[in-house]
Amino acid sequence: MELTEAMRTTAAVRTFTDADVPDDVLTRILDNARFAPSGGNRQPWRVVVVKDEALRLALRDHYAAGWREYMAHVVAGLVPFAPSNDGRWSEPAVDLEKARATPSPNEFGDHLNEVPVMLVLLAHLPSLAVTDNGLDRQSIVGGGSVYPFSHNLLLAARQEGLGGVMTTVICRQEPAVKHLLGVPIEFAVAGLVALGHPTHQVTRLRRRPVSEFATIDRFGGPEFGDLP
Ligand SMILES: Cc1cc2nc3c(=O)[nH]c(=O)nc-3n(C[C@H](O)[C@H](O)[C@H](O)COP(=O)(O)O)c2cc1C
Repeated sequence: MELTEAMRTTAAVRTFTDADVPDDVLTRILDNARFAPSGGNRQPWRVVVVKDEALRLALRDHYAAGWREYMAHVVAGLVPFAPSNDGRWSEPAVDLEKARATPSPNEFGDHLNEVPVMLVLLAHLPSLAVTDNGLDRQSIVGGGSVYPFSHNLLLAARQEGLGGVMTTVICRQEPAVKHLLGVPIEFAVAGLVALGHPTHQVTRLRRRPVSEFATIDRFGGPEFGDLP
């Protein structure tokens, strides 16, 4: 597939057919995704390919707990787990314990155990050169050494005629997920990636135009990038 087309049409796919994804196809996807960039080329990602049904069911339940917390924010009109305007973390304005006990149906999450491919994405924390550490605001740089890899997974899957989605609500349950999968302390749970054969292919993504996010010379300066 042509690169520009792949970039412009690789949507989040959450519904899959029953078709299996053979291990050799998944191996090829991982083998292509591994060329992602990372700080210092330290390639901090690790992947657990989850095949065991009991583990999958447990992860589905952990996902559901994270989803409930997420949706409680949405219902309250909040951006879930967003830092405040000053960039700092403050305690969530919703009762997370209550949220976890309140069912929130989600077609994808409620059947997460059934996805053809389930990958738990981990990050080796001591490998991350987090250059915005200690800036007294939400740090953002570290994830940049892992998420290009996860997007490469989606692009590589697309090349194989597959689709998928990178998800993070399960990170809310990191201690339980690490315990379940035997993950050592020095790793973080960066996400869960689902892959499979899409039931349908979305081809038009809704994104803001360049002129809405690029400016010249200063923040808020003249818009850059008006296409003729
Ligand atoms: C950092 C990150 C976290 C995400 N977490 C979730 C998630 O927990 N659950 C989910 O269903 N989708 C998740 N997504 C997928 C986004 O919802 C999706 O990329 C976005 O809505 C754009 O979808 P589209 O490409 O189909 O337009 C996540 C994506 C990113 C990049």
